[in-house]
Amino acid sequence: MKQIPSSDLLKSLPKQFFAGLVKKVGEYIAEGHDVINLGQGNPDQPTPGHIVAKLQEAAANPLNHKYTPFQGHRYLKQAVADYYLSEYGVTIDPDKEVAILFGGKAGLVEIPQCLLNPGDIVLVPDPGYPDYLSGVALAKAEMVTMPLRAQYNFLPDYRELSAEILSEAKLMFLNYPNNPTGAIATAEFFEETIKLASENDICVVHDFAYGAIGFDGEKPLSFLQVEGAKEVGIEIYTLSKTYNMAGWRVGFAVGNESVISAIELLQDHLYVSLFGAVQEAAAEALTGPQECVKELIRLYERRRNVLIEGLHSLGWNVTAPKGSFFAWLKVPDGLSSEEFANILLEQAHVMVAPGIGFGEFGEGYVRVGLLSTEKRLAEVVGRISRLGIFKK
Ligand SMILES: Cc1ncc(COP(=O)(O)O)c(C=O)c1O
Repeated sequence: MKQIPSSDLLKSLPKQFFAGLVKKVGEYIAEGHDVINLGQGNPDQPTPGHIVAKLQEAAANPLNHKYTPFQGHRYLKQAVADYYLSEYGVTIDPDKEVAILFGGKAGLVEIPQCLLNPGDIVLVPDPGYPDYLSGVALAKAEMVTMPLRAQYNFLPDYRELSAEILSEAKLMFLNYPNNPTGAIATAEFFEETIKLASENDICVVHDFAYGAIGFDGEKPLSFLQVEGAKEVGIEIYTLSKTYNMAGWRVGFAVGNESVISAIELLQDHLYVSLFGAVQEAAAEALTGPQECVKELIRLYERRRNVLIEGLHSLGWNVTAPKGSFFAWLKVPDGLSSEEFANILLEQAHVMVAPGIGFGEFGEGYVRVGLLSTEKRLAEVVGRISRLGIFKK
């Protein structure tokens, strides 16, 4: 077949680090091994029944078979505003401060294209969710990383950014509860961020994908709960994790009116909005009973405890995540994150994500998803114990 060349833009996209890993796991499974896959971030629980029922009912309504309004249905934007008021005490104008998204990822990748010109600087956490880099590459912007270190509870230390970088930076991505480190943000950190952003005219995009998932009774803070946040940025929320709706592709951006209208303008050119039945079901998720979310948090917390307590019992001194559904585990001395992940896959048939895949400062860690049953997580502990690496 004649090879039709792709654009330079496409060629400039970052390599998908985890694609190789997924392929390798597939090979082990094809060989008949019982692989416990904790390397990815795909929620394992089903969407709550009342949300599925709403989709089924709404799918039968011929009104939903038509094009939806370009910027999404008003009732969904109202549901978003109601949700932020009831969950966070934050007032949102549904007409000006909400953009409906095809999942959080779509918004995160669109934002650099909405706000940046080629060569503009974006501040990105390292380690961090790889899709921030995709948006930066599509906008032909320049990335400057902000190291997340254990000693600062995986919050960036802004003193590391030079005055020159700060004056040139136009955009900053943050993400708490954090993927991959499981850290959560404090109000003081968000206050410091808002001050820095407003002094240097940086737009802050807070990725709140794991907003619902906080442990030990702690409810993660929304960026918008902190005074002045709307002046400097937006928050991206997704229904993927809170309601196990990763396959449905629905999320939203809330906050600064000018950023919201920039997202809506770009989206007007790229798409018509989501299937109306998905929008109805999303509104049901946000405004319906929330007990399912509490149950989900309890489930992840039990899983976290099985894993972390189990690993402690082996003599592996790991830190428990405070939120998200990931544990960020320091690898034993003398091994790189890839070497250790390979040992776990090859000898214990456990797949974890090597920290280096999330950036240079992810080296020395592996990310483990709490996305299998307590029984399987106990099995992971047993398999690691049999490797004989850890001594009490
Ligand atoms: C940190 C973070 N942000 C955003 C997303 C995007 O989620 P979605 O596109 O399903 O809304 C994910 C998904 O894994 C994530 O881990």
